[in-house]
Amino acid sequence: MSSFTIDPLHDEFGATITGIDLGKTLSDADVAAVHKAIDSYSFLVFPDQKLDDDKHLAFTRQLGAPEPNHVALGRDGVVNYFGTIGNVQADGTVHGNEHQHTKFMTGNNMWHTDSSFRLVPSLVSIMYAYEVPEEGGHTQYVSSRAAYRRLSDATKETIDPLEVVHDYVFSRSKVAEVDPKHAASLPPINQKLVRSNPGNGEKNYYVGSHARNIEGWDDAESRALLDDLLDRATGEEHIHTQVWEPGQLVIWDNRCMLHRGTGYDADKYRRHMRQTRVAGAGPTLEE
Ligand SMILES: [Fe+2]
Repeated sequence: MSSFTIDPLHDEFGATITGIDLGKTLSDADVAAVHKAIDSYSFLVFPDQKLDDDKHLAFTRQLGAPEPNHVALGRDGVVNYFGTIGNVQADGTVHGNEHQHTKFMTGNNMWHTDSSFRLVPSLVSIMYAYEVPEEGGHTQYVSSRAAYRRLSDATKETIDPLEVVHDYVFSRSKVAEVDPKHAASLPPINQKLVRSNPGNGEKNYYVGSHARNIEGWDDAESRALLDDLLDRATGEEHIHTQVWEPGQLVIWDNRCMLHRGTGYDADKYRRHMRQTRVAGAGPTLEE
């Protein structure tokens, strides 16, 4: 039996979880229950947590193998399990709107799923809020599992066997130049377009900004299908907007959720969030 309380959040996905302290070592039953909640709800909000990087990483390790940050690994050859989201740097100073890093981060404002461009993409992202802007700086989420359910049987049959090429350089070059070493570390890779959750068999489609084309299809047909699938998933009525508060920890299932940032004024406000990810079980083509 898990010790915590689960309250559903949105009609299509999500839950708020209370009665658990993620800064402490969890029981095996609680770890299993968090995994089950991830499989069922895809998006979990844990309010009022008191973490630091060490506790955040310790919690991450309880859920699985932490995923090395691909920027530090690809560009600098360094294994680092954290990403800093926002404009506040390690020394407390702030990057404004015109800073290259701020511009690069605007790539997160396109609908995407984290690490979909890696051969073994992420299972979940775990984001913890330290400082949030007074305006903007939200994160929006939709479920591509709920979106798959809404498709016609004919469309499901068409897309079920397809492979989709995910390409980080393709997506990020739209907002800023990608460092050449970083780019070389992330060649385009094929993923299953339709994935199934191994725990409950629920299917979803795996698209977003990094999805470049359908394997074997021409560019125009590919783009039309990928844009259509994204549009169907991201209608206003399907979106949950996470309005962050300091102390919130959020877990989302990168296998079946899409998210995007809403942007904020980095000249005016501070935003400081830290993110880890748990690596997936293996290449999606082997699922
Ligand atoms: Fe992201």
